[in-house]
Amino acid sequence: MRRLRKNSQIRRILQETVLNPEDLIYPLYIKEELEDGQKEHIDTMPGQFRYSLADAVQEAKNLEEIGLSSVILFGLPRNKDEKGSSAYDKEGVVQKAVARLKAETDLVVITDVCMCQYTSHGHCGIVDGDQILNDETLSHLSKIALSHAEAGADIVAPSDMMDGRVDAIRRTLDENGFYDTLIMSYAAKYASSFYAPFRDAVCSAPSFGDRKTHQMSPANINEALREVDLDLKEGADMVMVKPALPYLDVIKEVKNEFKIPTAAYQVSGEYSMLMAGIEAGYLTDESIWESLISIKRAGADLIISYFAPKVLKNEIDIKKC
Ligand code: PBG
Repeated sequence: MRRLRKNSQIRRILQETVLNPEDLIYPLYIKEELEDGQKEHIDTMPGQFRYSLADAVQEAKNLEEIGLSSVILFGLPRNKDEKGSSAYDKEGVVQKAVARLKAETDLVVITDVCMCQYTSHGHCGIVDGDQILNDETLSHLSKIALSHAEAGADIVAPSDMMDGRVDAIRRTLDENGFYDTLIMSYAAKYASSFYAPFRDAVCSAPSFGDRKTHQMSPANINEALREVDLDLKEGADMVMVKPALPYLDVIKEVKNEFKIPTAAYQVSGEYSMLMAGIEAGYLTDESIWESLISIKRAGADLIISYFAPKVLKNEIDIKKC
């Protein structure tokens, strides 16, 4: 076997899995309150920022120049209320960012469709007492997705995990003539502790309770396949597994079972964990490549990753062998 690994040229031509720049989707956090020229460092995610609208657009342009193909947008609105109504404001920060990015770049623009950054209670749906109501939430999610499509989003990505939301969103998009807007559903989204830095970054931690009545138990994989199956039947064009590294088996199973475009989200906690290790000197940058290539090897076609800029700036050798 060692003949197959004898030098880097041999290893390179025999490398089975390759990470391409176009596999990467970069998440951008856009904060409505920030003035042009302002960005805030996210302390729980070293090297990541909350951007003003103008700075987010500029950052996307800079990354496009070095080979970025897609972004996924998250908004931090000025106003929150019980029903998260700022999420479907036509003049909202995400809607404005989508319009500008579509006018000024060739990037594929994906939007996260959820309510938790926009609700005063931090939950992903309409709340009654301590219950998160499923069906009452669907019309709100549909409105949010429609407002993103109207702004020009290529792909809407519902991340709320309510039942039936893909069906509701697909119907609303079609009724309004947005037949071509794709849906990438966060189909197998786990109730994960690895989202902690994100919730701090976008102020979306629930003020009471948790997300375990809608997000999945980390112990389950059969249920993930049912979730994917349902979302596909409801009209999802592509699906996502989230988080990525602790769920490589789920990525693999989903890809093998359904053979459909499959994305994986290397979430905030995965990013911060590796960054902390690297900053402390326990790990090196190579662990970033290793984690990304593992996600690809498991079967992901696309990887949402905060490491995208580092990879595109060649700070990480993606052809490493
Ligand atoms: C929910 C949402 C979350 C993330 C993306 N969309 C967090 C949650 O479910 O609480 C997590 C992303 C990350 O951790 O990087 N709208």
